[in-house]
Amino acid sequence: MIIAVINNKGGTAKTTTSVNLAAGLARSGEKTLLVDLDSQASAALSLGVPNHDLTPSMSDALLQGRPIEEIIRSTAQPGLDMVVGNMDLANTDLHLADVPGRERRLIRQLQRVRTDYAWVFLDCPPSLSMLSINALVAADFYLIPVKPEYLSLQGLFNLDLAIKRLKKGMNLAPRLAGILLTIVHPSSRVVRQNINEIRKNYPEDVFETYIRQDVRLLEAPAHGQSIFSYSPGSSGARAYARIVEDMKARIKRAAT
Ligand SMILES: Nc1ncnc2c1ncn2[C@@H]1O[C@H](COP(=O)(O)OP(=O)(O)OP(=O)(O)O)[C@@H](O)[C@H]1O
Ligand SMILES: [Mg+2]
Repeated sequence: MIIAVINNKGGTAKTTTSVNLAAGLARSGEKTLLVDLDSQASAALSLGVPNHDLTPSMSDALLQGRPIEEIIRSTAQPGLDMVVGNMDLANTDLHLADVPGRERRLIRQLQRVRTDYAWVFLDCPPSLSMLSINALVAADFYLIPVKPEYLSLQGLFNLDLAIKRLKKGMNLAPRLAGILLTIVHPSSRVVRQNINEIRKNYPEDVFETYIRQDVRLLEAPAHGQSIFSYSPGSSGARAYARIVEDMKARIKRAAT
């Protein structure tokens, strides 16, 4: 199952969600690949890959055609492999501008290895660039992390519309795995209002569990660990463990 974690808005916990769902599934014994599609390489850095070790990266596979199996690395979490991002990904749109089949580069690479993994997570950059389009072309499902703040509902409408248009225009198949409320401050009245609005507009799609603001989730990347290794008893670890189960159930329901 290939899952794109996508939102064109920055800082909505795409990377935090990709890293921890991937780690959570790997911990439960399901072989998982995490693909870092962001030139900031946040997913890689969050899992302890040092800044000087970001080559080879996903850009070698997408832009130079290097087979992905040559650049997959193992991580400290047994069962979790990854492909790192790096700055070279920043030029993807420019590099692929005139290349035929440019939106199918990722799916072609993933087809080489997808039978090796139960799950593949695609951590998208904060834009609907060629990298995100490649992710939607490759994905079976997409998951949208949303921070319930001012104007987040409008942003979600726009994103939903943009993805629907892309799907129609390109005849794509990926389905929504769910909308995940992240970095939630439940004590704020405005935040609670925003959550209600989002749930009202997407009654079927929003995960019941939300991810509270949790300093442990903020700290874990600096220690190069998932939340499950860094602070297994934290609210963040418990919430992401529930989302792993909810996501599996939703996908199972959608598939039958
Ligand atoms: N539940 C949380 N509680 C506290 N901090 C969080 C939480 N989730 C994420 N963060 C922090 O918020 C920041 C943004 O998160 P993250 O990098 O995952 O977002 P992103 O959507 O991937 O950002 P970008 O759009 O830049 O790729 C990071 O510093 C992260 O550690
Ligand atoms: Mg990110």
